Amino acid sequence: MELEKVLERFPKEQTYLIEILLDYQKSKPTQHLTENELKEVANYLDVPESHVFSVVSFYSFFSMEPRGKYIIQYCRDVPCHISDLINVKETLETLLDIKTGETTEDQLFTLEYSSCLGQCDGAPAIRINDKIYRNLTKNKLQMVLAEYRGDHHA
Ligand code: FES
Repeated sequence: MELEKVLERFPKEQTYLIEILLDYQKSKPTQHLTENELKEVANYLDVPESHVFSVVSFYSFFSMEPRGKYIIQYCRDVPCHISDLINVKETLETLLDIKTGETTEDQLFTLEYSSCLGQCDGAPAIRINDKIYRNLTKNKLQMVLAEYRGDHHA
């Protein structure tokens, strides 16, 4: 979706900054934001460009690098991290054959870390785009990835 179309849906008020950026980022196949787009949003809301850039760099759900179709975020906070069920980071990196911060060659998956996903009672947990997966085991993780590779969530 074009940025102007997203902007048109929001009042010119700074309180909508995060919502605008999220909506627009989500609408792009590469799920990332460019410098020019951030400047355009700053201009529309009449806020300093530096403010928009600092918001984007503060929140891990924004990216200025092109990403895959499915963004996998694993939680690195303590309850998930100390789970004896599985080492999520290592398992995901092995199954996807990429390191955290990278995108698979087929542009399907990007692997990122996140702070607590609010699912501590179901640790370890991950989020793929908007969907949460809890109580992960290696088996479950393999099944989830296979499902996405089959494109059942497109
Ligand atoms: S610590 Fe992982 S979801 Fe809260």
